[in-house]
Amino acid sequence: MSKNKKTFFIKINSNPYRAKEGQTVLDVALKNKIFITRLCYHPDTVIQGSCRLCLVEIKGKKGLFTACNTQVEPDMDILTDSEAISRAKKTNLELIFTEHCEECNDCIYRYGCTIKKFAKDYDVKINKFPDRKKDHPVHDFGPALQFDAKKCVDCGICVDICKKVGACFLEYEKVGDFYEVVPSSKPDKDCIYCGQCITHCPVGAFEGVGEFEAIEEPLRQKDAGKTVVFQFAPSIRSTIGEEFDMPHGSIVTGRLIGAIKQLGIEHVFDVSVGADVTTIEEAKELIERLGDKKATLPMFTSCCPGWVKFLEFYHPEFIPHLTSVRSPQIIMGGLIKTYWAKEKGIDPKDIIVISIMPCVAKKYEIERPENMIGDIKPVDHVLTTREFAQLLKKNKIDLKNVKAVNPDPFLGVPTGAGVIYGASGGVMESALRTAYKMITGKKLPQLELEQVRGIEGFKKTEIDINGTKLKVGVINGAANAKIILDELKENPRAYDYVEMMACFGGCIGGGGQPVPVNDEIRKKRAQGLYNVDTRNNIRMADESVFVKNLYKEFLADHDNVHKVCHTKFSKKDKEVYPKNYKK
Ligand code: SF4
Ligand code: SF4
Ligand code: SF4
Ligand code: FES
Repeated sequence: MSKNKKTFFIKINSNPYRAKEGQTVLDVALKNKIFITRLCYHPDTVIQGSCRLCLVEIKGKKGLFTACNTQVEPDMDILTDSEAISRAKKTNLELIFTEHCEECNDCIYRYGCTIKKFAKDYDVKINKFPDRKKDHPVHDFGPALQFDAKKCVDCGICVDICKKVGACFLEYEKVGDFYEVVPSSKPDKDCIYCGQCITHCPVGAFEGVGEFEAIEEPLRQKDAGKTVVFQFAPSIRSTIGEEFDMPHGSIVTGRLIGAIKQLGIEHVFDVSVGADVTTIEEAKELIERLGDKKATLPMFTSCCPGWVKFLEFYHPEFIPHLTSVRSPQIIMGGLIKTYWAKEKGIDPKDIIVISIMPCVAKKYEIERPENMIGDIKPVDHVLTTREFAQLLKKNKIDLKNVKAVNPDPFLGVPTGAGVIYGASGGVMESALRTAYKMITGKKLPQLELEQVRGIEGFKKTEIDINGTKLKVGVINGAANAKIILDELKENPRAYDYVEMMACFGGCIGGGGQPVPVNDEIRKKRAQGLYNVDTRNNIRMADESVFVKNLYKEFLADHDNVHKVCHTKFSKKDKEVYPKNYKK
C-alpha cells in the first residue's frame, strides 16, 4: 500500500482503530485480531465475496455488508455481531451446506473443520436440506490429486489460485442452472499437480490421491520378507509439528525418525542426503555448461515435478534448459535400491521405499518412466505430510511425546545445504556454495545468500565468482516463471542459472503440507530450515563425509552416476482424466 494513503479512525464494536484508505473492514479487523467469520477469503487470492459469512452492520447504513470487500471510510462505526447478522449468517450457512456433501472421515479438515464449527456456533442443522450436489462426480487428476465436486461450495478460491500458479486449469462452467468449478477441457490447459488448490480450498474438496490405505499393506508386508524403508523430504522437519499443535517452524527431525520407528520401521533415511548428491551433480553440470560455448544456458533446476510438468506442457521449447539431475527423492530412492541394497545383500525387488513428501506432484514424479533405473522403481509410495500425520494419529502416536532418535547413519547425515532445499532459493544457495568452491577452490565469503532467500515470488541477483558475474534468478509459484521466460525470449543470456519451484515459498508451502497456510506461516517454516543449516557443522554438500565416500566408491562408476542421478525430459500432452473415479 502506498505511503501517502490517508489514515483515519473507525470504530469496530465501539472501539476505535486506526485504518488506512483502501483497506477493507476485514483487513482492519484481522490486523487488530477481531474475529469475523469468513470462508471464501484467503490472503493469497483475490477477494471472492461469495460466501457472505463475513457480514457486518455499519451504523447509519441500511442492510448488511460483507467485511471482505467493503472499504473503510473515516468514522465508520461497525458492528460485527447482532441478531440481524446472526440470522443472515445462519441462512447463508444453510445455503452453503446444501452445496456441500459431508464426507468428513477422510477430509483434510477432519481435525478442525471451519464450516462445522460455524454450523455449531450458528445452530445450523447440517442435514436440513438435501445436498444439491450429491450426484456430482469425483475428478481424478492423474496419479496426484482428486477433486470431489460434491463437496465444492463454489467459493472460487481454487480457480484463482490455479491461475496464480500459472496453470489456469480450473474454470467455471455452466452446469444445469449453476456455474460450477470444473477441470478445463481445453487442449492447452492441464494440471501441474502443485496441489495449491488442496491447501487453499476451505472445505476439503481437493485432496491428494490417497495412498494411505495402500501404505498399510506394505507395512504388513515387512512380515512377508519385504524390507520397508521410509525416507522424508527436507521440509517435513519444519512442517509436520503443526499437525500435532506445535508452533509453526518447530524442528522435529529426531522425533519424526522416532515416530517412524514406532510404526515398526527399522530403516529411515533423510532425503536431504539425496539433496546433497543433487547439489554436487547440479554444480558439476552448471560448471560444464558455463564452460561450453555451445551449451544451453541458463540452466534451470528440475527437482520440482510441478515445475517440470509446467515446462514440459506449457513451454516445451525451454526443456533443454532443465538440468538432467534427478530430484533428491528419486536419487535417494535410487541409492537405497542400488547402493544400500547391494551393501545389505537385499534384492531391490524386495525393498519397498515409502517417501514422506511436502507434495502431491511427488506422487506423479515416482510414476514417471523417465525415473526408472532399468526395471527398478526408485520409490514405491508417496505419503504427503498430512497423510503421514494421519497414519501416526491412527496409530495413536503423538509426535509431541515421541523421543528423538538419530538417523540411520548408513546413508549419512545431511549437511545444512541439503536441509534448506525445502525453502525457495535453497537449491540455488546449496548449488552455488558448492559450485563456487569447485571453481575457485575457496568457500564463498558468506555462505548465507540472503539475496535468494525469502518468500517473494521472484528474486534475482549476481554472484561474483573470480571476477565473473553469475546471473541467477529464483522463482516460486509457476506463474512467476513467465517473468523470466519472457525476459529470456528478449535476451537469451539474461541469466546463467534459475531455480523454479511450483509452490508459493517452495516446498514448505507445498500442496501436501498442513493446512492452513499463509505467508506468515511459510516464513516461519522456512526460518526453521535456515536455523538447522546455521546450527549444522557441515553446511556444504561437498564436505559431507558420506557423500565424499559415495563418490569414491559407488559413484566413482560413471554408469552408476548416470543411472541413479540423471534423467531426461520431454514435451507432455494433455492428460485425459476420468470422472467418477475413486481410488
Ligand atoms: S494442482 Fe495446481 S494446477 Fe492442478 S488444479 Fe490444483 S492448483 Fe491447478
Ligand atoms: S473446490 Fe473448494 S476452493 Fe474451489 S470453489 Fe469449491 S469450495 Fe471453493
Ligand atoms: S515446490 Fe516442492 S512441494 Fe511444490 S510441487 Fe514443487 S516439489 Fe512439490
Ligand atoms: S469472506 Fe467475505 S464473502 Fe466470503
